[in-house]
Amino acid sequence: MGGADAPQLRELAVLAQGCQACDLWKRGTQTVFGEGPAEARLVLVGEQPGDREDKAGHPFVGPAGRVLNDALAEAGIERERIYVTNAVKHFKWTPRGKRRIHERPNRTEVVACHQWLERELASIADEAVVVALGATTGQSLFGASFRVGASRGVPLDLDGRPVVATIHPSAVLRSRDAQERAAAFGGLVTDLRLAGELAS
Ligand code: URA
Repeated sequence: MGGADAPQLRELAVLAQGCQACDLWKRGTQTVFGEGPAEARLVLVGEQPGDREDKAGHPFVGPAGRVLNDALAEAGIERERIYVTNAVKHFKWTPRGKRRIHERPNRTEVVACHQWLERELASIADEAVVVALGATTGQSLFGASFRVGASRGVPLDLDGRPVVATIHPSAVLRSRDAQERAAAFGGLVTDLRLAGELAS
């Protein structure tokens, strides 16, 4: 793995715009690449862009992004100082009336997109801590049998790089009531704090 190199990340972002490694490029408006400083000590990896991100071209700017921002603030982490990306860089959706409904990427799509995540991580310092947000991201990094529940709370090792696994912020949005929501949000904050401590 190499050191921090902003031009390298910018070049990757341009290359990824033309990616046709799976069929998702046909449905998405654009590739939504990672954003943030190459010298970041924390790298947050989500599943895939949603409807808002697909239109805006930026990761985590919709409802899940607002939960993530709140959790980062609570954990004392400044978003401007971290790198934020996704395991899959195109929005996968299915039409329902006028709406575009999120569909989870399948294994083939996750594997096809993994090259970009690998290249992003190779452009960011080896010591930077990765936060895997949700099962799809964990599976992209560690293989198809990865489960968040069995892996969160302790630092994991990805070829020498520390990784913290946690829930996806959208799980907070899916909570059935206020109590479940508070518990899910609290767990996310605890895991982000752990990552922040490892990164400092
Ligand atoms: N969900 C994700 O996993 N990533 C985004 O960028 C937005 C929503």
